[in-house]
Amino acid sequence: MNAPNPREPIGVIGTGYVGLVTAAGFAELGSDVWCIDIDEAKIEGLRNGIIPIWEPGLAELVEKHRGRLHFSTDIADALEHARLLFVAVGTPPTYSGDADLSAVHAVVDAMPPSDTHALVMKSTVPCGTGESVQRLFAESGKDGFRYVSCPEFLKEGSAVKDFLHPDRVVIGDDGDWAGDAVAELYAVLDAPIVRTDIKSAEMVKLASNAFLATKISFINEIANVCEETGADVIEVAAGMGLDDRIGPKFLKAGIGFGGSCFPKDVSALKQLAGNSGYHFQLLNAVIEVNELQKRRVIAKLQKHLGSLVGKEIALLGLAFKPNTDDMREASSLVLTARLQAAGSHIRAYDPVAEEEARKLITGAEFTESAEAAVTGADAVVIVTEWPEFGELDLVALADSMRGSLLVDGRNMLDPDRVREAGLIYEGVGRPSAGGVPAPAV
Ligand code: UGA
Repeated sequence: MNAPNPREPIGVIGTGYVGLVTAAGFAELGSDVWCIDIDEAKIEGLRNGIIPIWEPGLAELVEKHRGRLHFSTDIADALEHARLLFVAVGTPPTYSGDADLSAVHAVVDAMPPSDTHALVMKSTVPCGTGESVQRLFAESGKDGFRYVSCPEFLKEGSAVKDFLHPDRVVIGDDGDWAGDAVAELYAVLDAPIVRTDIKSAEMVKLASNAFLATKISFINEIANVCEETGADVIEVAAGMGLDDRIGPKFLKAGIGFGGSCFPKDVSALKQLAGNSGYHFQLLNAVIEVNELQKRRVIAKLQKHLGSLVGKEIALLGLAFKPNTDDMREASSLVLTARLQAAGSHIRAYDPVAEEEARKLITGAEFTESAEAAVTGADAVVIVTEWPEFGELDLVALADSMRGSLLVDGRNMLDPDRVREAGLIYEGVGRPSAGGVPAPAV
């Protein structure tokens, strides 16, 4: 198969967040894209314009490029039309914390011998996966099949924008035609392209996510110390972030990171290191701080309410972050379970994640609006910083509650405005009611 001009057609295997955004993004850049998934219902839905995930701009892009996007359950369709097959299947954590590569291996097994095709790995995989896939190809007489690592750095909630305006594109390959073909596809984007070897590309992805997670756990610990000392973590982060070497991003203290990537990738990197005999001490702390951070909300509730038995707690936001319906590893899951175990009744509201949340949270009451959730509540906890919570009428909210405690788990509200409405404000790492504890002597 010759490289077609001007835009190379591609295959995308796996139509989850990464796969569908990659497919729609390359269609926007002019490629025909053959999207493959083993889930027949999903493929049937996509053929009929039903997008299985909530991601801003994605449905519009898929609709716009219906002529270029082809959906099938048969990998042969992609092999027939494209030489580059982007792999975007799930690599969830196993019980051991390693990445589960069974979906990746199923794709590798399904490939026929070929000298004209390449797998382009988008899924996040441990360092060394490319080497083991190449070994599998060699052992099964498919050594002509090329392999490229091209990790994805998009964020849920801004995935389409991130695809079209990446900070960088990383391409790890063995110096053959496939790496050049992938680089050619991305060349139209105004972004630096990093060409490197396969293992280094795999490591860039894991190290980037681990570093960002470390930044979050770091600022969360600073926030916890701020609570002890009376400093305000927002002021502290602003002052730190002006240093170019630190930067202002990912310094928002809160109730911990969640999602399908950070928890999984931090643990996968820790296990990867451990499996080769290296004890990655720092990552243990990053994980532990994150777990404890979710639970600190409970202590804040108890500080004001005493026992939580029979208390009505309203949770505003359930998704792991705004602009997504993704509930994977959301802090709300731990919070709900802990509160229910402590005897509280939960009323929960999320603008888009309710359907996903209902699959994972039992025994809670789901409401149709933030106002309905807070009515009669002893305390309100902002779990996800959906913009609409910034617009809440705080005086009306205070009037409708039974109690008067607001725990702002994402530091999204102005504490003075909350207090002026007659509520008690507890943020994360901000001066709070009850003041600073006396210094230890
Ligand atoms: C993350 C990375 O940001 C992407 O670059 C990467 O491609 C993706 O994982 C992945 O590996 O697929 P994502 O999980 O979509 O993206 O979401 P983020 O916006 O990074 O947020 C992750 C979590 O960190 C959220 O729970 C968020 O609330 C939390 N967070 C983020 C903070 O608590 N504080 C911050 O300052 C930033």
